[in-house]
Amino acid sequence: MSQELDFLIARAKSACEKAYAPYSKFPVGCALVSASGQVYTGCNVENISFGLTICAERAAVFAGVLAEGSEFKIKKVVIYTPTEVPITPCGACRQVIHEFGKEVEVVSVCNTGHPNIANLPFLLPDSPAIAL
Ligand code: THU
Repeated sequence: MSQELDFLIARAKSACEKAYAPYSKFPVGCALVSASGQVYTGCNVENISFGLTICAERAAVFAGVLAEGSEFKIKKVVIYTPTEVPITPCGACRQVIHEFGKEVEVVSVCNTGHPNIANLPFLLPDSPAIAL
């Protein structure tokens, strides 16, 4: 694995340690790299209403927008879960990632086995592309 990937996995793991997941007991951490080379992290934050829960991936994307504004573009997303199989982003997160990058590499890492390496065109085929 590359040094960059090792670093991003470490950042996603640290984010995962901050997860607020008392209901599902399913902590998730995310570290993403923007086109400008910055790294933003996020963890899932649950709510007693359940529906107001935010996923780790969207928390990281929103941190990137806050830091970089409308120029924000995503290059790579790394997700960490302390599970036996890697998990890929939910449909809502795939759509939100797509807003800020069409060819994003998505790496899912768990605590055993190999990372799952995918990309957004595979995870979200036929997504709407409107030229603004
Ligand atoms: N979750 C994420 O943070 N990211 C995903 O890609 C899948 C699900 C969170 C939402 C909820 O807090 C918990 O995992 C269980 O679904």
